[in-house]
Order: sequence, then structure tokens, then C-alpha cells
Amino acid sequence: MHKIVKDYYGKTLQSSADLKTSACCDSSTMPAWLKPLLARIHPEVLSRYYGCGLVCPSLLEGCRVLDLGCGSGRDVYALAQLAGPKGEVVGVDMTDEQLEVAKGHQDWHSEAFGFDNVRFIKGYIEKLDELNLEPGSFDVIVSNCVINLSPDKAAVLEGVHSLLKPGGEFYFSDVYSDRRVPDAVREDPVMYGECLGGALYWNDFLQLSKDAGFADPRLVEHRPLEITDDALALKAGNLRFFSATYRLFRDDELESACEDYGQAVIYHGTIPDNPHRFILDEHHVIETGRVFPVCGNTWRMLKDTRFADHFTFIGDFDHHFGIFKGCGSSMPFNESAPVESLPSPLSASGVVLASPAPAAKGGSCC
Ligand SMILES: C[S@@+](CC[C@H](N)C(=O)[O-])C[C@H]1O[C@@H](n2cnc3c(N)ncnc32)[C@H](O)[C@@H]1O
Repeated sequence: MHKIVKDYYGKTLQSSADLKTSACCDSSTMPAWLKPLLARIHPEVLSRYYGCGLVCPSLLEGCRVLDLGCGSGRDVYALAQLAGPKGEVVGVDMTDEQLEVAKGHQDWHSEAFGFDNVRFIKGYIEKLDELNLEPGSFDVIVSNCVINLSPDKAAVLEGVHSLLKPGGEFYFSDVYSDRRVPDAVREDPVMYGECLGGALYWNDFLQLSKDAGFADPRLVEHRPLEITDDALALKAGNLRFFSATYRLFRDDELESACEDYGQAVIYHGTIPDNPHRFILDEHHVIETGRVFPVCGNTWRMLKDTRFADHFTFIGDFDHHFGIFKGCGSSMPFNESAPVESLPSPLSASGVVLASPAPAAKGGSCC
């Protein structure tokens, strides 16, 4: 599979316009704060963007960030601006042609930003331990539409867990399916290269994450993908695909379920670009100033991480009140979200992304 993927991203595709579907090309509404960051990125880098989501979590200033499957570097250069001169962003990719574009514009970007805090490394994301990266040294690891392309997703998640600092997070967008992808679809080179064939069934992904030490994966946003290309739709049959962004915190104290200890948090409104609310995930939109009930895991995701200074924490773990209301294990994706056509040329060929599903108001979990 590595060779097929290298050829696809190194030779077959020359720009985002060459994609046969839009699974690997994000159409989510771009937040206003991202626009000036992208405006400072070289056009050739932007033209070779093949991501499926937004991988810019809040509060990155001074952070050490790793981008798995960085491609030509769009996200690395956007994150570099957020991490600032005291932070660092490292991009890893296995495809020479992609890395050449990324590295070729490094001087241009350091001049535009006024600092150089990026580094690109050639390597496989299944073998992160071979890249001379210090274990436990990254605050945040991101990835945009890459894990589905990996033939060994368990190894990727284990490597990520080992490279993250305690309290660090893996924040990544990828493609998932509503059931296991049959071999005939997985082995189709176009389906695989276009980020569909290697998509993980969502429940297998959750289990793999837990096996790698990420006890409570949180869904940040998702949208269904509709296959509009007749030939690809025929191959996919009844399979449904979703683009989704998850955040996985490295915290050994997280429990396997959301337990209720009667705790609550109050958000101070102090995270840059988040004055009115902080969105932890689809079920936790935490309004500034409101006493917001949380389960023990959510408490820890805020208290044991870089977000701690921005919250007041009410309660402790002394009293247990059972499972947190609303905790469940059904499919996390909303299949009935309205599907929105993309402007051409992306909608003309293969897959259509719907608007992100609306986030819940809070109070429930998982
Ligand atoms: C869909 S593109 C996404 C690129 C980039 N994240 C972006 O948003 O533009 C997938 C990228 O992952 C890289 N890749 C795929 N599998 C990989 C692996 N096992 N190890 C390292 N890089 C990989 C490919 O070379 C390609 O650049």
C-alpha cells in the first residue's frame, strides 16, 4: 500500500484539482481567524493541499507540534504561525515529491513570518520511533487525512501515544466508515488513494485508540461524505463514509466511561479567538461564565492539559454518582445531517461533504 500511496501523492496528483473525489479535500467553512494565516502561505503549497478537515486546535502558542503525513506543508505553515517563535512544528511524510514542495518554500515562509520554527522529516508514520524524536516531547500531534492511508493504524496510534507529553493531545481529521470496508473496496487503488478504501470503521477506530492508551476519544466535528461518482458509488455499495475530527488526550487517569463525580467547570473566556465559548467536542460547548457540569474525564481533559489556566474547577473525585447522563455507545455520526453540494469542480466528480453537524449545547457526554 505504501507504494500505491506514494505514487498517488507523488506522481499522479499535481494539485487538489486532480482529485477524483472530494474525500481528501476539505470544504468545511473556514473560520475567520484562519484566513490571514493561509494568506501568508505560498500558493504552490496551498495548491497541493489534500486534507479533509481543520487541524488547528486552540492555544498553540509556544507548543511543540508534530504533523503526521504533512504533505506539501499547508498545515505545518499554518500551525507554525500559531505556535510562534517559541514553538516548533515538525512535519513527517514518506513521499519525496510532497516534501520537496514543503522544504522548497521554507525560506520564503521564514521571511514572511519573521521566524523559522519548522522542520520536515522523511519517514513512515507507522515507524515514528525511528525518526529520532524524543518520546514524550510533543504538546500536540495533528494529522489531516492520512491515517486512513496507513496499512498499520495501530502502530501509528501507539507511536503517537509515546511521543505525546502527558496531557498532550492528538487532534486529527480523517475518513471513517459506518461498517468495515470489504477487501474488494479496500484493494481498489483509486478508492484507497482517494482516502475511502482505507477508512476505518468508527467502532474499530475507537477500540484501536483505547488499545493504544487513549481511553476516551472525543469527536470534535463530522460530516457525511456522499459518493456521487456512479462507478465509485457502485463499488462502495451500502458503505457510508464520514469525514471526522477527533481529539485524543494522553492522560493515564482517564476512565473507560464518562463517570459522574458531581463536578463542574467555569470557562473564563480567555483562550485567544474563543471569547464567548470553548468547544471541547461536539457535546461540550462551554459558554463563558456558565457553571457547566462535566464528567470526570472531561474535567481531566481540561485540568491536566494546556487548557487548565482558563477554567475554574468545581468539585473533586470524592463522591461517585454513577454514569454521566447521556453517555452511550451508538454510532457517533449523524447520518441525517443535510448534505450540501460543493461548488464545482469538486462536486462534479466523486464525493460531497455536508456541513459539520451542529454541536450540542452541553450537559451530556460522549
Ligand atoms: C491525503 S494527503 C494529505 C496531506 C496533508 N496532510 C494535507 O492536508 O495536504 C496524504 C499524505 O500522507 C502521506 N502519507 C500517507 N501514508 C503515509 C505513511 N504511512 N507515512 C508517512 N506519510 C504518509 C502521503 O505521502 C501524503 O502526502
